[in-house]
Amino acid sequence: MPEASTLAIAEKTKISYRVPTLVKWAGGKKQLLSQFDKFFPNKIERYIEPFVGGGAVAFHIIKRFEPKFVLLSDINEELVNAYNTVKYNVPELIAALTVLSKNHSKEFYYKIREIDPKTLSSIEMAARFIYLNKTCFNGLYRVNSQGKFNVPIGSYKSPQILDIKSLLEINKLLKNTIIKVMPFENVLEFAKKGDFIYLDPPYYPVKEGKSFTKYSKNDFSKADQERLAELFNKLDGLGCKVMLSNSDTEFIHDLYVSYTKNVVRARRMINCDSTKRGEINEAVITNYQ
Ligand SMILES: C[S@@+](CC[C@H](N)C(=O)[O-])C[C@H]1O[C@@H](n2cnc3c(N)ncnc32)[C@H](O)[C@@H]1O
Repeated sequence: MPEASTLAIAEKTKISYRVPTLVKWAGGKKQLLSQFDKFFPNKIERYIEPFVGGGAVAFHIIKRFEPKFVLLSDINEELVNAYNTVKYNVPELIAALTVLSKNHSKEFYYKIREIDPKTLSSIEMAARFIYLNKTCFNGLYRVNSQGKFNVPIGSYKSPQILDIKSLLEINKLLKNTIIKVMPFENVLEFAKKGDFIYLDPPYYPVKEGKSFTKYSKNDFSKADQERLAELFNKLDGLGCKVMLSNSDTEFIHDLYVSYTKNVVRARRMINCDSTKRGEINEAVITNYQ
């Protein structure tokens, strides 16, 4: 563990506006925005986020800095399809979610979960994805070895499946953005000097072999963390401003030893039992002061 004196702990500033939510996502950053604010550059003209997940940081950056160019991407095809559906087909998506919301029950959940998303239209696929996310256990996204979504139903009394206000707001925020399915390395095809790039990968586990973070068929391995650190170095070499979140572990500190390290405090699920939440440190690495 690095010396505490080398780490700055972020103070909270107040975020004065609402950040909308499309889906619940493991490792969501909404709760950290007030601590992140001091790490963002003063001006952002081009913004790239290759692990966009729940999009809290992206929505915040778009609202606050109104960048001219925004590229959001993720490896999760269903997630990216949901964003693009909100962007291009929001009335149709609202109609589909209205039907799912009216029919919600335990039996209905498992019926919808059974459907192979590849057999659906992009609008139906997005509605199914959002419906399952809002009604499943803890908003988890987990698939089995065949790529089949296998999270059980959650215990919500009346889950908010259709959030029209957020959908309409996200539709506006995504207006001038590019949203793509792509592996993180591909950002090199787009990154230019001066760009601000936020990297929020699946975290390196605090205890080795104890990761609960499985977003897709592919786990994010130690070798992936090393490849990401190489990408960070390349983006630094290009003259981009790069910010990365990860676990506050020796492995991560060693990978980014020549950069600025900060720490934020996050409330996280500390084990499989959703009732056991605790505050932990998370690392924020930047290649600028
Ligand atoms: C920690 S989450 C991002 C959290 C998000 N920023 C938020 O606030 O909710 C990590 C994301 O990385 C994506 N991912 C995993 N492996 C990837 C890869 N090789 N390339 C691109 N994205 C990947 C996952 O699908 C997941 O959405």
